[in-house]
Amino acid sequence: MPACRIIVAVGLPGSGKSSYFDRLRVNAISSDEVRRMLLDDAGDQSVNARVFQTVRHLAAQRLRIGRPETYIDATNLERWERQPYVRLARACGARAEVLFFPASVEVCLERNRGRPRQVPEDALRAMAARLEPPTVDEGFASVTVVEA
Ligand SMILES: Nc1ncnc2c1ncn2[C@@H]1O[C@H](COP(=O)(O)OP(=O)(O)O)[C@@H](O)[C@H]1O
Ligand SMILES: [Mg+2]
Repeated sequence: MPACRIIVAVGLPGSGKSSYFDRLRVNAISSDEVRRMLLDDAGDQSVNARVFQTVRHLAAQRLRIGRPETYIDATNLERWERQPYVRLARACGARAEVLFFPASVEVCLERNRGRPRQVPEDALRAMAARLEPPTVDEGFASVTVVEA
């Protein structure tokens, strides 16, 4: 049996992650969806540690069940945020991959303005400043760029 894959999105809010997964018709584990389940509000940032514990727990369950592909829909801007998925993949004999959505902050701000649930502009710019472009050196088998 080929190894299971865990595919981690990396990109700013508005970079197109959720739309891409919708188009692929995959059931990604989404941090916004977990916020909705735990807090009744996809935008509530008050218990992010718990939100990401839940995301990782769901991912681990999928890998242990042997689901062939597990997608993570979250910004995953910094290397430390991505490392848990590399470790999880190693522990489960899975392959960890990245899908990088490199849309510029200006493009993301423009798309953000057209959304019902908007990220404040200063918050989005602060996130752009935190973004560490992902590399295979982090332990990913591949980094695939999804152009806007
Ligand atoms: N490739 C694209 N070209 C133009 N607009 C896009 C593209 N991908 C997403 N969008 C639009 O940008 C907005 C944010 O996309 P979304 O997928 O929700 O981003 P994310 O999940 O990364 O926050 C949505 O209104 C969506 O329709
Ligand atoms: Mg999204």
